[in-house]
Amino acid sequence: MTQDELKRAAAEAALEHIEAGRIIGVGTGSTTRYFIDALGRSGVGIKGAVASSEATAERLREYGVPVVELNMVGEVAVYVDGADKADPQLRLIKGGGGALTREKIVAGASRRFVCIVDESKLVDNLGTGPVPVEVIPMAREYAKGVLIEMGGKPILREGVTTDNGNLILDVQGLAISDPAELEGALDHIPGVVCNGLFARRPADVLLVGTQDGVKKIDRMPT
Ligand code: A5P
Repeated sequence: MTQDELKRAAAEAALEHIEAGRIIGVGTGSTTRYFIDALGRSGVGIKGAVASSEATAERLREYGVPVVELNMVGEVAVYVDGADKADPQLRLIKGGGGALTREKIVAGASRRFVCIVDESKLVDNLGTGPVPVEVIPMAREYAKGVLIEMGGKPILREGVTTDNGNLILDVQGLAISDPAELEGALDHIPGVVCNGLFARRPADVLLVGTQDGVKKIDRMPT
């Protein structure tokens, strides 16, 4: 199977975690697009969806799924989203699609986070990134300087403005030995809105599309 077929298989498996009548959260990216397509075709009558990006909201509407504001509902029963990397503790790096801030908000507001990936995303550890960091535009150079002091190599994602009107720095070379600690340290840089490490709110379930079928990995209680 191709990587896209593995993504689609993981996305379709996520339907088992969706109950009719619920408000769900929906992430962003190519794997999540397969999930939206499967959801739209499935006929599962969810009450509505909180979208993690404008692109996701648009695609949900195309299928007639009511898109609701998180502020109106407070929480979502399940959040379904992809990832760029996932480690055995289901800690993630996300943000390849630039929607990391809204993704982290909806993940935080979810009772259950179901992450859907193809097997290429599974890693023993999160390594050295790259970690996407969303910064407000006036902080671009300042934040770059701090990230360099921290041992990183930040590269501006050219031509990208997030749904929040901000910029993305992709930071290579950070030692991610303690993902939760680094996640907090990055968020403390003035001007940083959010970063793509999801260690403080990891996934609860990982559905991995592999050549041997979709594997389900539950997060072990800590
Ligand atoms: C979007 O900002 C990201 O967090 C995506 O979830 C992540 O990059 C995975 O994307 P794909 O599903 O396209 O691989």
